Amino acid sequence: MSLQPTQTNMTISNANPQTSSADWWRQALVYQIYPRSFMDANGDGIGDLVGITSKIPYLKDLGVDAIWLSPFYPSALKDGGYDVADYRNVDPKIGTLADFDDMTSACKAAGIKVIVDIVPNHSSDDHEWFQAALKAGPGSPERNRYIFRDGLGPNKDQAPADWECMFGGPAWEPVGDGQYYLHLFDASQPDFNWENPEVRADFIKTLRFWADRGVSGFRIDVAHGCSKKVDEILNSNKLHSQEEIASLSLKMLEGTLDDDAHPYLDRNEVFDIYREWRKVFNEYSPPLTAVAEAWVSSKRKPLYASADGLGQAFSFDMLMAPFDPSAFKKIIVDSLDDAAQSGSSTTWVFSNHDVIRHATRHALPDDGGYHETARKYLLNKGKAPVADLELGLRRARAATMMILALPGSAYIYQGEELGLFEVAEMPDEERQDPTFFRKPGVDVGRDGCRIAMPWSGEGKNMGFGPGKRPHLVQPEGYRKLAVDVEDKDPNSTLNLYRKALGLRHELQCAEDLEWLSDDAETVHFKRPNGWEVLVNFGKEARSIPSNRKVALSSGDLVDGAVPTDTAVWLLPA
Ligand code: GLC
Ligand code: CA
Repeated sequence: MSLQPTQTNMTISNANPQTSSADWWRQALVYQIYPRSFMDANGDGIGDLVGITSKIPYLKDLGVDAIWLSPFYPSALKDGGYDVADYRNVDPKIGTLADFDDMTSACKAAGIKVIVDIVPNHSSDDHEWFQAALKAGPGSPERNRYIFRDGLGPNKDQAPADWECMFGGPAWEPVGDGQYYLHLFDASQPDFNWENPEVRADFIKTLRFWADRGVSGFRIDVAHGCSKKVDEILNSNKLHSQEEIASLSLKMLEGTLDDDAHPYLDRNEVFDIYREWRKVFNEYSPPLTAVAEAWVSSKRKPLYASADGLGQAFSFDMLMAPFDPSAFKKIIVDSLDDAAQSGSSTTWVFSNHDVIRHATRHALPDDGGYHETARKYLLNKGKAPVADLELGLRRARAATMMILALPGSAYIYQGEELGLFEVAEMPDEERQDPTFFRKPGVDVGRDGCRIAMPWSGEGKNMGFGPGKRPHLVQPEGYRKLAVDVEDKDPNSTLNLYRKALGLRHELQCAEDLEWLSDDAETVHFKRPNGWEVLVNFGKEARSIPSNRKVALSSGDLVDGAVPTDTAVWLLPA
């Protein structure tokens, strides 16, 4: 690995690039809200838009530039809202379009931008188009908006191919008339046919609909999945089996697959869609932004992040990595490099609604593969392997301070600012995630990171709502992490995030980074204005370099030195 300085320019710059309007996203701090679990204003046990609006002062005080809302559209919640029944409406369980407008205006008044989630790969099976497709029958234009194909065999009662969906189980679902439809996710999530111009036009309408209501950007769900070449594969008798597809998917992620060799992931045709979207984005001022959720190799990521495409792509490497300095350094170098290739900025993410919270992830031993360990831990309801939650939180705080000081935008997920741990102990009947149902005994799913926010240590429902218990109830252990408890403690994780985000705003500067050391036990770099970050992973405490003062520390210093699992931000003394 080469850790060459990318820039040695040392001019002090106080310019805050976030204030220049068209580029606001490049180094923005985006706070992800999972609406159903954030704040329940009307007491039905489900978080709602009025609840979000009531917490805007909290978000402003925290120092976020934008909020990204996971889907709040009408949905049967088979996949937590990523099964959308109507793209241009609000789920009545969550609020109304008027509530959405109120929320957006209140955000605007507070200087907070709003990003919404667009789910183009699939709809819900409740979507009126899918219902119409079922009724209209084989060969109809209605079926052509989705991916229906005839079953195999004389009775057409065998799936067209033996593909498995991402949540486990078959990806082709019979509808009872000899046809099957493709769903890469749950059977309640039929995949759209993006070769159909009607589908394309409808999504453009959706983008404009939200943009005209004041949204500043979009997070694009499964951005690498929309384009598919199903027939070539089915007709050629190739790649019918799950093993063959799984091996292609792996190669695709590693970057060793030829372009367009995968029948339904990361195909070149997908960029035509985003080029069309970009034209729409650029009609607005400032142009709308978009970030791709694309699980692809790093050589392909710049194609999603290009200026004539979505503009930015998530880097998920940090959330796959163990707490390890050489792993982190490699990811930093590679992610900055990927982003530079497309002229985009990179994104830093440790937690989101799909992965085990990083305060717990970094509490686990990492032998046997990092995510494999986490999967076992959840499956064993938190009993084995043993999680050292104190260690996990200390590491999570240090790791977060590291990414907050890097060039690029940072995404934080609701509750991580409280140091929330993953809820592993949950009765099976509480679980909602389709993975739990589709992979029994293998995976418990993602409910443990989607628990209701604890706003108050004492209040009813920990302050989440005035009525019914939350749909995913908080464990007792969340009381001491509640917002009003942490608010009073100067050393709390909440107050650390507040200070870090405030300072980050002041210190944010040109998107360059200079490595200060290749010490194997530290991560140590500097930004062009002299903002320095030192994270110690080693057992021995590290002294503060001379002529530096500590601006912020993720934990207590020991005799003026940085102890293990601790990060400091330093400024010229
Ligand atoms: C994305 C979402 C995830 C969802 C899936 C299917 O990966 O982040 O929550 O289950 O897409 O829409
Ligand atoms: Ca509610």
